[in-house]
Amino acid sequence: MKRLGVLTSGGDAPGMNAAIRAVVRKSIYHGIEPYGIYQGYSGLINGNIKKLEIGSVGDIIQRGGTVLRSARCEEFKTREGQLKGVEQLKKHQIDGLVVIGGDGSYQGARALTGHGFPCVGVPATIDNDISGTQFTIGFDTALNTVLDAIDKIRDTASSHERTFIIEVMGRGAGDIALWSGLAGGAETIIVPEEKLDMNDISDRLKKGQLRGKKHTIIIVAEGVMSGTEFADKLKEAVDIETRVSVLGHIQRGGTPTGFDRVLASRLGARAVEILMEGKGGRAVGIMKDQIVDNDISQILDQPHSFQNEMFDLSKELSI
Ligand code: F6P
Repeated sequence: MKRLGVLTSGGDAPGMNAAIRAVVRKSIYHGIEPYGIYQGYSGLINGNIKKLEIGSVGDIIQRGGTVLRSARCEEFKTREGQLKGVEQLKKHQIDGLVVIGGDGSYQGARALTGHGFPCVGVPATIDNDISGTQFTIGFDTALNTVLDAIDKIRDTASSHERTFIIEVMGRGAGDIALWSGLAGGAETIIVPEEKLDMNDISDRLKKGQLRGKKHTIIIVAEGVMSGTEFADKLKEAVDIETRVSVLGHIQRGGTPTGFDRVLASRLGARAVEILMEGKGGRAVGIMKDQIVDNDISQILDQPHSFQNEMFDLSKELSI
């Protein structure tokens, strides 16, 4: 391996920069020339590729977003688009590619590997919805951003004795809602992985009120429904006044936590090693604090595992 490419794709996640830095520095340490591909797969198709130096990734470990920028690219879902990408990689004499991103990015990496070009996936998405890893880069930072918002909303909820519905991101996964709800002491958490039981939610709300509970926090994962849709449903079930807060893209920004920076550094470096070992079509991850790698196709075919016991625990603790 003489030249290696790195790109970030899909929704950005805090810690992507730390992963880029790890890929670049690990490559240079081992005498490999790193190339940055800008704007994800769309930049790959258009040949937006530049050589990176040690200094190119200086002063970025603490920054959110991605210095390589990101994109969602429809053209890369087609065979023609993918072959254009392979052509660009060959033109720049790049021998292997590290793809930092989520599910859609992995699909691109799998396709490229299928066309004979070795790729390794590094899981980075705030959603924490990739299998083969307990944590994706960016999840911990997003969790803490959401928690900060919940704590602030709790202040005003308590002052006004109100019920707040907070809509969080996660696409089809409920991890952001579950973890932030448990850590933020939410009374109710609504996630796609668990059946929505309006009777149970209403009963718990009523019981809380009887007990003298003055305010309530409900976390709704966007994969179930929007916060306002849920507010309407709740109004039908129990006639209480609510306020809805949609946290939106604020969840994707900000300084990565220490956990995300360390995770990104370990995963990015391991991805380079795998390419150096002459392997492609792999995805790295962390399991029980060990860095692991799996077949990227298998990872894409396996559903992300949801921690149901944590959901049950949140119910027990929010009586
Ligand atoms: O995958 C990350 C994510 O932030 C999801 O949680 C969310 O559903 C989606 O991206 C939003 O995407 P976009 O920024 O393209 O609207």
